[in-house]
Amino acid sequence: MKNFVVIGSPIKHSLSPYLHNYVYNSASINAKYAKKEVSINELSNVIELIRSENLDGINITIPYKEVILKYLDEVSPQANLIGSVNVVYMKNNLLFGNNTDWYGFKETIIKNNISINDKEIIVLGAGGTSKAILFALKILGAKRINLFNRTFTKAKNMQDEIITAYEYTDSEQIIKSNSIIINTTSVGMLKNDIPINSSLISKNQILIDVIYSPLLTPFLKAGIEKGAQIINGLDMFIFQALESIDLWFGETYSNKVNFKQIKTNLERKLC
Ligand code: ATR
Repeated sequence: MKNFVVIGSPIKHSLSPYLHNYVYNSASINAKYAKKEVSINELSNVIELIRSENLDGINITIPYKEVILKYLDEVSPQANLIGSVNVVYMKNNLLFGNNTDWYGFKETIIKNNISINDKEIIVLGAGGTSKAILFALKILGAKRINLFNRTFTKAKNMQDEIITAYEYTDSEQIIKSNSIIINTTSVGMLKNDIPINSSLISKNQILIDVIYSPLLTPFLKAGIEKGAQIINGLDMFIFQALESIDLWFGETYSNKVNFKQIKTNLERKLC
């Protein structure tokens, strides 16, 4: 039996074990998947478990998607460009890192019929998940992205011909009544917090949150109140997980499982 684990901190909220074990069962894959709260000092121990083949792969979540890079022998071209890794496994005897978050986000945008190239895009947060989303947005044809982060220097370092960094204090001037606003931060996951002032949210905007637990963050709830279109993190979560499974097993299980059924099950668990 193969063994997989998702590591991060906090990890309590993660439904990755539920999702992966559900897919393994329905596709008759002989594997099991667990979650593990890991401190920064324990990262190297987990890496050793993969090298010694006591673990067959890991998913990385908040806050280690960038720091994990230094432990790896090789990364995929996409993960290298993005600068963050959420899937790790052994490949040709090397510890290999890949990124499926960008793919998960791209598929979410396509599935929900969001047209992004004619819209002003606002991205909140400049961590590992944000980097994957920015990469996907560019592939999808985004022409202009305004990036906000609590630690401004991190956003500033990510500036290029498409991305412009801003302080949250600039949000009133920058966020438009028809912007697409994407929350990539953890704000709203554990506490009843909202990453921007709710007075900036209005009905012609599209609000996207990477958080799926809770299904409706205060950010998305504010969007519903104003009549905006909202998308929670569930689609992205499922797409990135299925892509991880395809990478680990070298088969396209993602085409064989029932996405809608998986989503309904997760929604039931989160309600
Ligand atoms: P991930 O890999 O999931 O992106 P991360 O790299 O730790 O996790 O990034 C978390 C993001 O959420 C960062 O942009 C962080 O802002 P900082 O760069 O200033 O740390 C943002 N974030 C976390 N808590 C926040 C809070 N209370 N208010 C605003 N932003 C927050």
